Amino acid sequence: MEQQLNLAMPANFQELIEGAHVPDTALNHRTSRYEPLASIWFGEDSELLERLLDFYPRNPPSAILDATVNGGRFWRGSKRTIIGMDIDLRHKPSLVADNSKMPFRSQSFDVVVYDPPHIPNQGRDKSKDFNDRFGLVQRSSKENHYTFSHTFPPFLKEAYRILQSEGILLSKIADYVHHHRYQWAHIELIAAAREVGFTPCDCIIKIRKGPIIDPKWKTAHHTRRQHCYWLVFRKSKKCE
Ligand SMILES: C[S@@+](CC[C@H](N)C(=O)[O-])C[C@H]1O[C@@H](n2cnc3c(N)ncnc32)[C@H](O)[C@@H]1O
Repeated sequence: MEQQLNLAMPANFQELIEGAHVPDTALNHRTSRYEPLASIWFGEDSELLERLLDFYPRNPPSAILDATVNGGRFWRGSKRTIIGMDIDLRHKPSLVADNSKMPFRSQSFDVVVYDPPHIPNQGRDKSKDFNDRFGLVQRSSKENHYTFSHTFPPFLKEAYRILQSEGILLSKIADYVHHHRYQWAHIELIAAAREVGFTPCDCIIKIRKGPIIDPKWKTAHHTRRQHCYWLVFRKSKKCE
């Protein structure tokens, strides 16, 4: 049965945009406890995300932005109230906006979640709903090497600005083979994040249920991508 998504606007939504809301930046470290989180995840993104939100923030996060919310699959079953933003009105996000020009005050979020479009200009595997699931609505041009990596720096600059000090960026990212080349999206994201000041703190391998297969591929000298990554960045000089 479909679960109700909690994409309602938080009570302080207006305040986040117009007011000077700055969450408590005091580093009230929770009582020290270490419940290990495995670096390989076989479950759903939504379950992992809940674990990440419990594991990395220094304080329980209240202001959470999903900057590429799409259908909100990450928040299925979640009791959290989040702002879900998307550039595409059709997904009915809480806010239609471009994540490279975010309409929020600086330092207004504890956590930003980012799942950018990937696998540009391909996906003829009709067994998968590529357009909806992977954000293939957009195409990438030759000038941008048929990838979406050029969208990382403007987003990251904005994510850094709107996060409070010690805030967390959680990003799901997949490498892929395209244009006869292995596209190192996760490396490009890490490099771009470092450039704006984030510290990359962790990397979780998420196993996909089925690899992406395009029937037009006859022979290939690359492995099928059966995993993606969840990368954890902190707006800080240190991770611990
Ligand atoms: C891979 S999908 C996200 C899927 C989502 N995490 C889920 O599980 O339902 C990427 C989404 O990013 C959105 N998007 C692409 N460029 C954007 C931008 N500049 N600003 C905001 N959203 C954008 C797309 O419209 C698409 O819905």
